[in-house]
Amino acid sequence: MISIRILDTPEEMKEVEDLQRLVWPDCETDVIPVHLLVTAAHNGGLVLGAYQDDKMVGMLFGFAGLYYTPDGPRPKHCSHQMGVHPNARNSGVGFALKRAQWQMIRQQGLDRITWTYDPLLSRNGHLNIGQLGAVCNTYMREVYGEMRDGLNVGLASDRFQVDWWINTRRVEGYLGERKHPALTMVDIEEAACQNLYPVGLRDGFIRPAGPLASPQGNLLVAEIPADFLKLKAADFELAKEWRVFSREVFETSFSAGYLVTDFIYDTSRDRPRSFYLLTYGEATL
Ligand SMILES: CC(C)(COP(=O)(O)OP(=O)(O)OC[C@H]1O[C@@H](n2cnc3c(N)ncnc32)[C@H](O)[C@@H]1OP(=O)(O)O)[C@@H](O)C(=O)NCCC(=O)NCCS
Repeated sequence: MISIRILDTPEEMKEVEDLQRLVWPDCETDVIPVHLLVTAAHNGGLVLGAYQDDKMVGMLFGFAGLYYTPDGPRPKHCSHQMGVHPNARNSGVGFALKRAQWQMIRQQGLDRITWTYDPLLSRNGHLNIGQLGAVCNTYMREVYGEMRDGLNVGLASDRFQVDWWINTRRVEGYLGERKHPALTMVDIEEAACQNLYPVGLRDGFIRPAGPLASPQGNLLVAEIPADFLKLKAADFELAKEWRVFSREVFETSFSAGYLVTDFIYDTSRDRPRSFYLLTYGEATL
């Protein structure tokens, strides 16, 4: 049984520090320290811990921020770091942390939470877009410069910045009592989406195998590796190829007016496959 707690003491933040070291190994300078976590928690930020049998298995950290509109700056919550202990993954801890964040930040009267993640990480795409209902039309190149931690070392730190419009019916629907039904490859086939590029197989891993089509129509699909970290460990050149190719895919689609609105992780066939679904004309969500 997982319980979520709002954290604010130095002792609790020490546990958060330790969990970060486990999730992002080999880079002490990337650990958010106790004093900053405490300060954020005392000044409009939010630090959450997920506990199983009194042991912290997940952390989520965010702070109050601003975004800029033609009418001036508006408040938002900037969610910066979520990590779940490797032994506790895929059992709903990440979802439970984000759901608690949704509840707490709504109580602050805010309507938008943003965060960044690597768009090639299928698990994160499935959670952020497919299960939480966040959307994205912002692609950021090398946003964190060169990263040295064990998860990110060696690849350009390109990221999606997602928008989570927390007071919309869309997001309420995703986080409601019943779990949002996941889309499958059958849905893609039936909806006659435009496939932006073909993929081929090399040593069991997919690679981009054709030119990027010019985006047309209302629905696009873009396939990504189902396990990018495994691919990266096995074939680093292919991982770099995916970074460069997917950068072109998303920058082209976003500048043509498309928005990432759903994610498909289909495990029903011979190998798991992952796809982003992009929609035209929903940028005001
Ligand atoms: C991203 C992270 C926080 C998710 O935590 P989690 O507790 O595993 O998340 P959940 O269990 O709530 O959701 C994960 C979902 O992805 C699914 N999943 C697992 N492997 C997947 C894959 N290769 N592709 C797509 N989805 C996958 C799980 O089945 C689960 O979905 P389900 O609930 O429908 O079964 C965790 O994996 C983590 O700490 N990763 C390393 C750090 C990181 O990337 N942090 C985020 C950026 S700061």
